[in-house]
Amino acid sequence: MAAVQILEEKALFPRLAEEFVTCAKKAISQRGRFTVALSGGSTPVRFYQALVEGGLASKVDLSKVYFFFGDERDVSPESERSNYRLARDLFFKPLSVPSSNVIRWMTEIIDAKEVAVKYEQSLRRFFELKPGEFPVFDLVLLGLGDDCHTASLFPNTDALKVTDRIAVMNRVEILDSNRLTLTFPVINSARKIIFAVTGPEKAEALKEAVEGERNCSRFPAGCVKPTDGELVWLADKDAAALLKKK
Ligand code: 6PG
Repeated sequence: MAAVQILEEKALFPRLAEEFVTCAKKAISQRGRFTVALSGGSTPVRFYQALVEGGLASKVDLSKVYFFFGDERDVSPESERSNYRLARDLFFKPLSVPSSNVIRWMTEIIDAKEVAVKYEQSLRRFFELKPGEFPVFDLVLLGLGDDCHTASLFPNTDALKVTDRIAVMNRVEILDSNRLTLTFPVINSARKIIFAVTGPEKAEALKEAVEGERNCSRFPAGCVKPTDGELVWLADKDAAALLKKK
């Protein structure tokens, strides 16, 4: 069972930024580059602010950092709901991250299934994968939905069962929308996975994910179990309020 590190909300995102820098330095020193899959939703706003305010560009050679997205909404990259746009405006632009270092879901393509195929192809090329291989990210950052989804792996959706794909479109009926997501085999292949969870509305989901019975259909985040990598949960006191083990 992964331990949950409980922090004051105002300390959580600087801590996440520190973890990011540590991972980046280690990966760049060992392999000459750092590959990271960013999470979506609203939690990353405070993470991006911590990276920018913490002077990330002076700590890490960003030309050796390659940014991916764990999931994306089926919207234009210019949409207010785009996970890419949030990162571009709050992080990539302020830190002058080269666009060639950002590998995003090409959601301007109308057909969401085609977006997923193209993203899978881009990851196969980037990681120089043989058939059947999965990319190994140095770091996968994840959020947690109050329904215990993570990335766009929502309860009772088809993507939860996919074991032979890297990137898929996932129909999420409860949202009446299509989502785009990396699959469990990709996420669980990562060298390190960090969840960042804040707010009382996440307390039930966090308890199920960390302490509940394994049930990937109902509580997808509980099935994030790195094969060889490290799993870290960062949570504030409100999100961790229902945990037995403090
Ligand atoms: C998304 C995310 C999603 C998110 C959780 C938490 O595209 O919405 O990838 O998995 O991480 O829903 O969202 P908040 O950070 O907004 O609470």
